[in-house]
Amino acid sequence: MRVGERRYRTIWLADDGWSVEIIDQRRLPHTFVTERLVSLAEAAEAIRTMAVRGAPLIGAAAAYGFALAMRADPSDDGIAAARTTLIATRPTAVNLRWAVDEVTTVVRQLPAERRAGAAYRRAGEICDEDVAINAAIGDHGCALIEAAWVEKGRAGRVNVLTHCNAGWLATVDWGTALAPVYRAHDAGIPVHVWADETRPRNQGAALTAWELGRHGVPHTVIVDNAGGHLMQRGLVDLCLVGTDRTTRAGDVCNKIGTYLKALAAGDAGVPFYVALPGPTIDWTIRDGLREIPIEERAADEVTTISGRDAQGRIVNVGLTPEASPAANYAFDVTPARLVSALITERGVCAASEEGLAGLYPERATAV
Ligand code: MRU
Repeated sequence: MRVGERRYRTIWLADDGWSVEIIDQRRLPHTFVTERLVSLAEAAEAIRTMAVRGAPLIGAAAAYGFALAMRADPSDDGIAAARTTLIATRPTAVNLRWAVDEVTTVVRQLPAERRAGAAYRRAGEICDEDVAINAAIGDHGCALIEAAWVEKGRAGRVNVLTHCNAGWLATVDWGTALAPVYRAHDAGIPVHVWADETRPRNQGAALTAWELGRHGVPHTVIVDNAGGHLMQRGLVDLCLVGTDRTTRAGDVCNKIGTYLKALAAGDAGVPFYVALPGPTIDWTIRDGLREIPIEERAADEVTTISGRDAQGRIVNVGLTPEASPAANYAFDVTPARLVSALITERGVCAASEEGLAGLYPERATAV
């Protein structure tokens, strides 16, 4: 997407042909800074600290982290170390493990001297595939936004509620949940987005609002607890969220708070759609509640908050009594029964084993 005069992806190879550049998302929305990663350790740290984040992007970053590792040590031990380091960074999004497995499969069959080149090639392909996948999700999801507009008699605007950031910043480009919004906006369909702030990391307030604003998409930031109220009053036409891992039976794991939005949407009769690329489907599991590991992050993400003060300085302030412990569950699971439909690069389907198997017959072998 465009930032100022330049088109950006969220991750790319630097001019030297081997180091990896990223947008440091910890600094947004206040400052747009890019950072250069030169080692496996730096790539792993960027994923762990959420300089890069969002399921598809951490998959791409892990693939490039693997390539950096192969440049330094292409031995079998180097492969094992890269896998362990990268997989330990964030446990919930399955794209990370998927990307690490993809690169491992390619390099394992090669002699050591050819492993780095092959890893870079596969990482580049993973990035290009992600962009193509998300563009297709945009087309399929745009049809749903257009249908909502037609249902409203093409009057007013289509109000979409989204949670967290599943826009271009969370992927290599386009985004998953926001790709349909960009497509609709670009096609002249009047679309407005309610962006949940998404405590504690505020991906909605900081990132979704920033990227929608850059693209000129009308949006309003709301506190996380406002969504149910808006849905009850007919101010939301559809919910559209991303996912970090969706089971083969259609259970959806996404940023903490997604489940509450799905419950409210069900009660208020608002369609609840989940946009996802194929690599986000975990074909090895069915029961999201029991089988998806939920990342627990540091308590200080809950007990403190950072922002820009009146002098333009970024400051971190405390929110809670010093003696109060805090818990920080980063994701929750929305059962398939609360999901109106899944939007994938291959089309729209029911959130069910049959629905997903219909779109991905080659993956739907028995487990
Ligand atoms: O903790 P984050 O910011 O990495 O979580 C991101 C989300 O929950 C997104 O909704 C999900 O990764 C889908 S991104 C296209």
